[in-house]
Amino acid sequence: MFYNTTDVQGLDVTVNSQETIPLVDQFIDQALYYGNQAESAIVQALSVDPGCAIAHAYAAAYYLSQETAIARQTAITHLKAAQQSAPRTTEREQWYIQAISAWMRGAISEAISLHEAIALKYPQDLISVQQAQYHYFYRGESEQLLKIAQIVLPENAGNPHLHYLYGMIAFGLEQCGELEQAMKVGLQAIGLNRFDPWAQHAIAHILEEQGRPSAGIAWMESHSDTWEHCNSMLYTHNWWHVALYYLALEDADKVLALYDQRVWGRADRFSSKDQVGAIATLLRLELQGVNVGRRWNELAPYLSARLHEHALPFQDLHYIYALARAGYTDWVDELLRSWTVTIHAKQVSRDAQSVWRQIVLPVAKGLIAHARREWSVAALELQPCLEKLHAVGGSRTQRKLFNQIYQHACVQNESDWSAFKAG
Ligand SMILES: [Fe+2]
Repeated sequence: MFYNTTDVQGLDVTVNSQETIPLVDQFIDQALYYGNQAESAIVQALSVDPGCAIAHAYAAAYYLSQETAIARQTAITHLKAAQQSAPRTTEREQWYIQAISAWMRGAISEAISLHEAIALKYPQDLISVQQAQYHYFYRGESEQLLKIAQIVLPENAGNPHLHYLYGMIAFGLEQCGELEQAMKVGLQAIGLNRFDPWAQHAIAHILEEQGRPSAGIAWMESHSDTWEHCNSMLYTHNWWHVALYYLALEDADKVLALYDQRVWGRADRFSSKDQVGAIATLLRLELQGVNVGRRWNELAPYLSARLHEHALPFQDLHYIYALARAGYTDWVDELLRSWTVTIHAKQVSRDAQSVWRQIVLPVAKGLIAHARREWSVAALELQPCLEKLHAVGGSRTQRKLFNQIYQHACVQNESDWSAFKAG
């Protein structure tokens, strides 16, 4: 028997059991919160209602967002189940299922169009807005990332999840450089709910951009008690932001301790996003001349599963640096070969093709050279791509790393030349 009922967002959903709704609601809240119970909530929803299309679609999106080959297989199973039940569902549910299907095929532009359509007709659907922001984030499209959250705001005045939307808007404003307005909206979110780690994170970015590390430490550490129930991605990422502040204050011991105890110490070591945060921390430490000991060698083995996945250009650029720095020459070669094969076989979408060819491949050569201390090659390869780097995605703060690597290569190259001439 099918029920048409409403979820916590006030949107019609199609379920087969009255027990499904509280569990779907729990998933929605967990997903917006970046909570560590999102997976269990959606698994439970499907255990009481194995034919629920939207629950399968949420599960597919959850596993796809892991950006790993193993999780992708699970996502495929859920997407097929969602598609099977889709004809019985509402228009919004069908559009959402189609959007996840497009994502699965790598048709990100198509997925975005569907999320945009949902935002216009069903503006309370914040899960869909969050998903669209995810895609915009990894395409470096900050203005669109902001816009889709702003356009749904007028219809969400009474939404119990309003603070999550404020967090999304605050992050978008920050990515667009509107720091004052971003701070205002971010504080509005926290005023409604102190336990909103994404809004806290948006303010972390603002303080980073404003060059206020002490204020950043005070802000983030005073909220860190609320991160215990976050998923490992946001838990480690928020601590990564704290590590950046200490790095700006040149407190390398504190950064190493945060790396050991939080960023890598509490990471899901097989999680792609957690790995990226750890790599970025080690790299930034080394750019400041800090000896990170054997940490590259301890991290690199966990990247074995990443060699043939090529989920996101931004992430692959981190992996290849870590592999080169740890001296994993065979894996560097394998990753490069795999990129070439993947691009030639057109296994990435047309949009992504040009990013991989024109940015990722040359930048990767520059990064490998830097990791191998070939400063002049690193500078030569990286320089032409610096202006285009936004297209690989990631936040402004995260992408600054590539500029820092380039600057470091230039300085090191100059000092090598000076030493050569003096000698
Ligand atoms: Fe961030």
